[in-house]
Amino acid sequence: MDNNTRTTTAENRNGSPAQGGASKANGQPFLTDVQTLRERARQHLSQGAVTPSYGTDVNRTIEILQSVLATEIVCVLRYSMHAVAATGISSEGVKAEFLEHAKEEQEHASQVAERINQLGGRPNMNPEGLETRAASQYGDAETLVDMIKENLIAERIAIEHYSELIRYFGDKDPGTRVLMERILLVEEEHANDMHDLLVAHEGKPMLDR
Ligand SMILES: [Fe+2]
Ligand SMILES: [Fe+2]
Repeated sequence: MDNNTRTTTAENRNGSPAQGGASKANGQPFLTDVQTLRERARQHLSQGAVTPSYGTDVNRTIEILQSVLATEIVCVLRYSMHAVAATGISSEGVKAEFLEHAKEEQEHASQVAERINQLGGRPNMNPEGLETRAASQYGDAETLVDMIKENLIAERIAIEHYSELIRYFGDKDPGTRVLMERILLVEEEHANDMHDLLVAHEGKPMLDR
């Protein structure tokens, strides 16, 4: 670091940020000055949350989020069906767990749909082609253990898929990244819950089928 750089950095640290529309762009190497931010925000108001600093292709983001939305809806449907269809010895606790997960997947679907809307897209909840848009599958498990396994597989797919998306969004779209990070944490809890249920129930055939 040369002397000039050191002086500029010290001035930045001590100086107040640009306020009241005064532009102090020089000496602010990382931050856009307030005046420029305000001018940019007033432009293109129809773009809602998508500002000029948006760092990636918004149409691609919407397309990705449509797939996440489909994944979450498929998970809602699968858990909801399992919560009703699970039968047999000690199925009550499992049904309650399935139902709780169904509600949380529904929350994820709503949050992702909101984000698509914020970015100027129209959330695709069309049942036609839903499973082909999704990363997870609806499944056809009939036994309690197979249901648990199916859900564990779906959660593991979601965890891997969402982890990739978080890396993809990185600093290009922090808002979407943070949303996906929050959802990922819940999917990890879900996978852990399904794993614990599998350990508790593995090998017990459903006796009433
Ligand atoms: Fe989810
Ligand atoms: Fe989940």
